Amino acid sequence: MEILDGKKISNQIKEEITVEVAQMKERGEKVPHLAAVLVGNDGASLTYVGSKVRSCKKIGFESTLIHLPEETTEEDLLKQVHQLNNDPAIDGYIVQLPLPKHIDEEKVLMAVDPDKDVDGFHPTNFGKMALDMETFISATPFGIMELLKRYNVDTEGKHTVVIGRSHIVGRPISILMSQKGKPGNSTVTLAHSRTKNLKELTLQADIVISALGVPRFLKADMVKEGVTIIDVGITRVADDTKEKGYYITGDVDFDYVSKKASFITPVPGGVGPMTIAMLLKNTLLARERHNN
Ligand code: GUN
Repeated sequence: MEILDGKKISNQIKEEITVEVAQMKERGEKVPHLAAVLVGNDGASLTYVGSKVRSCKKIGFESTLIHLPEETTEEDLLKQVHQLNNDPAIDGYIVQLPLPKHIDEEKVLMAVDPDKDVDGFHPTNFGKMALDMETFISATPFGIMELLKRYNVDTEGKHTVVIGRSHIVGRPISILMSQKGKPGNSTVTLAHSRTKNLKELTLQADIVISALGVPRFLKADMVKEGVTIIDVGITRVADDTKEKGYYITGDVDFDYVSKKASFITPVPGGVGPMTIAMLLKNTLLARERHNN
């Protein structure tokens, strides 16, 4: 069994970007500038956005955090989005999800300039991704592909079962894994809450990508020997014995499933850090595209 070490690979990617940013500076060019919009005070979102902004500083990017109150109106958020679209200093930005319930998420994501949409959530970018065109690929699926690539995991002709059909992870990764390429060329089954006999499917899988958000859902008796496991779940489980009052766990019953796996991502330290690295990579790409 080999651990797919997202922390290590994400650090490598960040080092590679740091070198490129230093070269940009030497040439007297503007460095990439990422902005993040956060509405409200959701604990997990605060942690993620904080981590994204800190990573920017570490690698030499400019960053701006726009933290708006929970009661921000949709109209005001849309104004903020238009401001970012029109600000030449900003190369790319994200609107952290989920948004408060009174705001129409789709409307906001549609308003983001596709050329600054480093999350790859805009229909233009999602469509381009689905059509094999160059674009911003969403950070989480992009991170999974990069992890598989750097560990040389063979995906060609393999049966990949994706669990979860979210717009952010399940849907895009199912498309990417089936596309021509390396990694890719996989035969993909996209399973979801209405899927019957999920265990029958996962038992046939060479690769399982779980993006469900149910702690330790995937048990050892649901997978075959030699399987590759990508665990996208990050759930906070309340635990008073921990300093923070919770611990983080994935969708996979790691201690047992790992015994049968040939490759497996841990949680934390697997897909999570890759997501941040690929967001930075997209921001670098945005800067390069705006330069050209
Ligand atoms: N919420 C959970 N994951 C993401 C992500 O990748 N981007 C944004 N903007 N919000 C998220």
